[in-house]
Amino acid sequence: KAVGIGSKHESAALHVLGQATYTDDIPELHGTLHAALGLSSKAHACITAMDLAPVLAAPGVVAVYTASDIAGTNDCGPIIHDDPILCAGEVMYVGQPIFIVVADSHDNARRAARCARISYEELPAIFTPQQAKAAQQYVLPPMQLQRGDFKAAFEAAPHVVRGQLFVGGQEQFYLEGQIAYATPKEDQGMLVQCSTQHPSEMQHVVAHALGIHAHKVQVECRRMGGGFGGKESQSALWAASAAIAAAKLRRPVKLRADRDDDMLVTGKRHCFYYEYEVGYDAEGRILAARVDMTLRAGFSADLSGPVATRAVCHFDNAYYLSDVDIRAACGKTNTQSNTAFRGFGGPQGAIAIEYVIDEIARQLGRDALDIRRLNFYGKTERNVTPYGQEIVDNVIDALTVQLEQSSEYRARRKEIEAYNRSSPVLKKGLALTPLKFGIAFNVTHLNQAGALVHVYVDGSVLVNHGGTEMGQGINTKVMQVVAHELGLDLDHVRISATDTSKVANTSATAASTGADLNGKAAQDAAHQIRQRLAAFAIKLYGNDDGLPVQFFDNAVHVNGHRLAFAELVQKAYLARVQLWSDGFYATPGLHWDAKTMNGHPFSYYAYGAAVSEVVVDTLTGEWKLLRADALYDAGKSLNPAIDKGQVEGAFIQGMGWLTTEQLWWNAAGKLMTHAPSTYKIPGISDCPQDFRVELFENRNVEDSIHRSKAVGEPPLLLPFSVFFAIRDAISSVGGHRVQPPLNAPATSEEILRAITAVQMAA
Ligand code: MTE
Ligand code: MOS
Repeated sequence: KAVGIGSKHESAALHVLGQATYTDDIPELHGTLHAALGLSSKAHACITAMDLAPVLAAPGVVAVYTASDIAGTNDCGPIIHDDPILCAGEVMYVGQPIFIVVADSHDNARRAARCARISYEELPAIFTPQQAKAAQQYVLPPMQLQRGDFKAAFEAAPHVVRGQLFVGGQEQFYLEGQIAYATPKEDQGMLVQCSTQHPSEMQHVVAHALGIHAHKVQVECRRMGGGFGGKESQSALWAASAAIAAAKLRRPVKLRADRDDDMLVTGKRHCFYYEYEVGYDAEGRILAARVDMTLRAGFSADLSGPVATRAVCHFDNAYYLSDVDIRAACGKTNTQSNTAFRGFGGPQGAIAIEYVIDEIARQLGRDALDIRRLNFYGKTERNVTPYGQEIVDNVIDALTVQLEQSSEYRARRKEIEAYNRSSPVLKKGLALTPLKFGIAFNVTHLNQAGALVHVYVDGSVLVNHGGTEMGQGINTKVMQVVAHELGLDLDHVRISATDTSKVANTSATAASTGADLNGKAAQDAAHQIRQRLAAFAIKLYGNDDGLPVQFFDNAVHVNGHRLAFAELVQKAYLARVQLWSDGFYATPGLHWDAKTMNGHPFSYYAYGAAVSEVVVDTLTGEWKLLRADALYDAGKSLNPAIDKGQVEGAFIQGMGWLTTEQLWWNAAGKLMTHAPSTYKIPGISDCPQDFRVELFENRNVEDSIHRSKAVGEPPLLLPFSVFFAIRDAISSVGGHRVQPPLNAPATSEEILRAITAVQMAA
């Protein structure tokens, strides 16, 4: 049995030995050149003059290219074509690429990139979502989802909360930065090896930029050192730039972004500004909810539309909201073009309703868990989302009851109250937050995948599928699925690099659907081979026992005979039986109307909850996560070891987003936090000493791959519990009678600001 076991990551040994090949580790071909990008120093300006002679004259420089050197289309936008590869006159943010310099070494290229003399005429710039909202500047038309009659329900509601909230963005901070290595091939062809979640998109962007057909472009990615959404669309700029230079020079060109450039150039998680108004009854049941979300999209659309859509579809989180008015608008700002980041707007949508519930609980003097529970979706009624999807797999009640008990939530609540009464400076806080996350791409056609399975005559199996490995373990899971189908041990199966010449027209590995989609496609391929082998085995050995042919223990069992898998394969080859197959999968039952924001966009929902306990120093704003308990519904997990790792990783990454990771632009619009010296992702010492991660026993009601559920993104919502535990600790300063105005990230400064506000009001 190969599925459902906690086998290690397929590259674990290579990872720890430093032998796993990332793009920069590919042996360089003779004659390889190195590129760097010349960046804008203004947030919004017209380029009035550009002197690149000093760049060309710098040591080792071979060539410099600007927008006018692009043979095809100067665009790398994934949906709307508003995203130039190189700026062609009007710069839109500090860090926007203007030219490509190619030199004999990486360092020479980087040094030369600094030598340009560019004159600008500055234009007015907008930086924050609030400014964009005031100016009504959006990259896309605003969207709205309504159900029921918000206005009437709000006016009739006995109690209300209203306010604003700001939740900051987040840098993906993949350990391996953006990189592309382009090699010209015969007849204008181009091979691009790059770090990307979306090889097919890279293929299209490169083909368009070079003005050639897609069949001449081959894109390959063996693995990424992390993507987290940052390499879904935004690997395109680097792939296209390397390919443009390689095509001009007919020499291999590598473009590896330095960390500071990477952070200055690429988009991040969208920060959100919210205005909300919610009516509720004496028990705390929500009767009417209105939220107006403004995203910082940056200068172009990129994936902001789908990110905003997911935010709208996750504002409900685990709660039934009868009468709602949910709005989202993608503010156009003179900053990096924000993009996908683990959760893809879902976390930003859901945190707003959690904030509201936290306020309702405080207003009523109740434990927030009770208010959450009161508002949970029902099983048979109160079970339709604002966008019209009926929820048929709800386990949030059972899951939170289990976690409430295993975490001893109520007893610890009492202990914390006692602790806080006797501790004037250090204050503890506790919170339990739930999650519900929809699995599938909202855009229906993206929910498809392909795979190719080869069985070689020695019985070994090679699999290629459309998904990309970014550390999340997709290849391990797909190996497990194929091994299971053919009754083999895992070491009989290998997965090769993702390659557009093997599986065509793939979707991005994103929306947590990678293992779901590609696992199904690979299963389909393996199943076809298995059926051919079974039919062949019956031909050889008969079927007098009437039993189906079975594949297990690396052997085939037919009519009382047992043959090693390799032996049957050998015989099948000689009998000219096809030993390889393609496979395909399209998620059934999905539909979505983007205009009305209604439909059945998700295949199923994943659920989870977490309890966090923090201690806050009310004099300094410093805090520590003392204990975290997380319970996550991975369905019938394909690999519990990998899934627990995903939950842990997502938890800590989400905690960083909500606490320490602050993006800060100066008054001129330059991102000043562009390196780990100033941008603080969590370190090992920020992990709670007591961290209890468990998977909830469940089985997907949908026919997903072996009834498992996706795990990549949803657990990023679990550390909401950290943020609300901090807010709870702050709230204790005012005897829980004042709402602490806490924005995210809850840095020590922000915590101190909230404490002061509570003290002033109390
Ligand atoms: N885990 C690791 N180690 N590295 C990553 O880059 N990306 C996350 C998540 N987990 C990521 C990760 C994101 S943004 C997504 S969408 C999912 O993995 C994609 O993987 P899957 O769909 O194959 O589960
Ligand atoms: Mo993940 S943000 O969908 O790449």
